[in-house]
Amino acid sequence: MLPDRIYIIGYMCSGKSSISRKLAARLGYEPFDTDDLFEERYHICVQDFFEKYGEDYFRKFESEILKKTGEKHHVVVSTGGGTPCFFDNMQWMNDNGLTIFVKTSPLTSFHRIMNAKRKRPLVYGKTEDELRQYVENHYNSRLPIYEKAQFIVKGENIDIEEVMNYLSQL
Ligand code: S3P
Repeated sequence: MLPDRIYIIGYMCSGKSSISRKLAARLGYEPFDTDDLFEERYHICVQDFFEKYGEDYFRKFESEILKKTGEKHHVVVSTGGGTPCFFDNMQWMNDNGLTIFVKTSPLTSFHRIMNAKRKRPLVYGKTEDELRQYVENHYNSRLPIYEKAQFIVKGENIDIEEVMNYLSQL
């Protein structure tokens, strides 16, 4: 049976939003993005919020936004790269939906972040070398948490059929 909520997790620039939109379209579910929900709720972009109020507040509100999605049905929720890594968020997602980890290598993540248009507060202003080093360490520190997901899909060449096939066996 299909779960009511599907949570897409993974590092920055892994392609979470894209897979979440595609999956939602295939399933007839509604796609959501926790960063978008945050920005709609607080009327401020994530980058500016980080600068003004700091990461701790962001994490607190991010967790609240995430848990509010527990009231929704037939949704695919794309989460921020750090969402599973704070408080009990990862456990909560596993208890309240199905989690899918979109796994990219640290090198892919580094290249994609370098070329991304959207500013990301955790990596903003870093030189190329600093960014490469940061992503490598940061990614590895988060990996054990991401790996608690119920299903893992490769982010380099996302195969939506692989996900659909997995879901059809539930
Ligand atoms: C973050 C990732 C961002 C956003 C915030 C923090 C992180 O989302 O939530 O900048 O801690 O990895 P994306 O994963 O969509 O870039």
